[in-house]
Amino acid sequence: MIRRFKVNDFRCIESAELSFSPEFNLVYGSNASGKTSLLEALAYLGRGKSFRGASTHNLIRHGAGEFVLFGETGTDGTGRRLGVRNSREGLEVRVDGSSEGGVAALADALPLQVIDPEVHNLVAGGPELRRRFLDWVAFHVEHEHLHTWRRFRRALKQRNAALKGGSGDAAIRSWNAEFVELSTLLDASRRRSLEVATESLMGFGFGLLGTELGFEYHQGWNRDKSLEQALEEGLARDRQHGSTQHGPHRGDLKVTYDERQARKLVSRGQQKLLASAMILAATDTAQTALEGPLLLLLDDPAAELDGDSLGRLMDAVAGLGCQVVATSLEKGALDAPAGAAMFHVEHGVLTAV
Ligand SMILES: Nc1ncnc2c1ncn2[C@@H]1O[C@H](COP(=O)(O)OP(=O)(O)O)[C@@H](O)[C@H]1O
Ligand SMILES: [Mg+2]
Repeated sequence: MIRRFKVNDFRCIESAELSFSPEFNLVYGSNASGKTSLLEALAYLGRGKSFRGASTHNLIRHGAGEFVLFGETGTDGTGRRLGVRNSREGLEVRVDGSSEGGVAALADALPLQVIDPEVHNLVAGGPELRRRFLDWVAFHVEHEHLHTWRRFRRALKQRNAALKGGSGDAAIRSWNAEFVELSTLLDASRRRSLEVATESLMGFGFGLLGTELGFEYHQGWNRDKSLEQALEEGLARDRQHGSTQHGPHRGDLKVTYDERQARKLVSRGQQKLLASAMILAATDTAQTALEGPLLLLLDDPAAELDGDSLGRLMDAVAGLGCQVVATSLEKGALDAPAGAAMFHVEHGVLTAV
């Protein structure tokens, strides 16, 4: 959770210095006032990248040369100090004065999740977002996951380079053993993490949608075959593509709703609720593993939702006990709890009210 936050030259925000409540914070203001920009800056401090997929060039305030973010976590003086500076020379990251851990150290010091108006893509979009979702849970539940994931990426890159470079069959096969070993570790780690999160996924799903959800991990190769076999049989096709077509990098988390594919849900609002349930469950699971509250960014939660659905979402969020920074057009729109910290934003200028 974050207590103090300083922003310089990020999007339309020239400078801001805020003290957040450890519980509920509301940022309100009219369209294009800078609400999403503030959440984007907060998320950048914990991820080293934009949740809107924006490049550095678009994030630096027009006319400025760099943006700088600074944050302090924790409530009792034991918190961490996070700093990010980004210019045309590149990204600089510091946690408690050290640049050693890079972006992973940011994520470690300020774990966070985001629910924004694009959240339905987690359900409606391609498998990449769901793999990332499952890996995020696994990073917090499984100590070795990040290490395994990095080693797997390296093995995949090497095998793909051999395929692209037109290496002989023997040279490509020589990468298989390591690739299979790391795939097996990654696969097992994802499966265990999903198992740990399942009760929470079902609980939040039922709470928000009133129905039974199903979550099934698909490993990224034919389930009736070993990965060795799939690689052997797929060698010609891998050569054609210049990349490995089987493995956990092709995995997916299949989500079903009343036994139907959730991707095919007709209503955008239902997709948003389902995706939000998944994010809340991931947050819940990580909080249990980390034994502390996470930061949840809720950008315009009212978008696409009717009053009942919004009420259920906000009740579920309140039950989670995490730190929340939410945005809305109007001060009274989200029934913020008593004691919430309120900030008004206008033309990129933030004022505590
Ligand atoms: N790099 C930038 N420099 C200055 N202004 C920007 C930059 N990027 C976006 N903006 C402007 O910031 C304003 C606020 O955007 P946003 O935070 O998305 O508003 P909202 O309050 O609706 O969420 C918009 O008018 C946008 O054009
Ligand atoms: Mg916005």
